[in-house]
Amino acid sequence: MKIGIVVHSMTGNTSLVAERIKNRLEKDGHELFLERLNIVGGEDQSQSDPNKISIEPLSINLEEMDLLILGGPVRGFQASPAMKAFLGNLEGLGGKDAMIFVTHAFPFNWMGGNSAIKQIRGICTEKGANVLFTGIIDWKNSKREIQIDSLAAGVARKASKAAS
Ligand SMILES: Cc1cc2nc3c(=O)[nH]c(=O)nc-3n(C[C@H](O)[C@H](O)[C@H](O)COP(=O)(O)O)c2cc1C
Repeated sequence: MKIGIVVHSMTGNTSLVAERIKNRLEKDGHELFLERLNIVGGEDQSQSDPNKISIEPLSINLEEMDLLILGGPVRGFQASPAMKAFLGNLEGLGGKDAMIFVTHAFPFNWMGGNSAIKQIRGICTEKGANVLFTGIIDWKNSKREIQIDSLAAGVARKASKAAS
């Protein structure tokens, strides 16, 4: 399958997880396209209004992808404003298979991870996507490496099922 991974990542955590997912999926023979969102004018982390954030156009064409994986950090107990800005303007999600993951710093999923996933899932579903899988990585958890491997394995399992 052709799989696009689009992430928002300011300090690199979400990007690192995306790389691990990419490597795992490539081992299964999928064709991967990974892109990190670029914010016009650079990122201002105090800007919480998605309507005031412009995202540079992607270089990959998501309409060509069989599966879209979205990843981003938790910001103030929510999905990141940049991810919301990106999704708000995204077209072509109708009927598209999608997966979502977030990274966050606080030790419990209810401290932002769950609500960020819920928001991203809500936007994707509203735009007609089929959300097949979601995951949360707690950055400060001592078992983070295991969490990332397990997330990548879960993504790979669902991708194989979707491909068959
Ligand atoms: C402005 C700001 C707000 C944040 N809010 C939260 C939060 O509500 N809950 C949480 O667990 N982590 C929060 N974090 C931590 C990030 O979610 C975490 O470090 C994430 O892994 C960063 O991903 P990145 O390196 O891909 O940007 C916040 C970070 C920033 C900069």
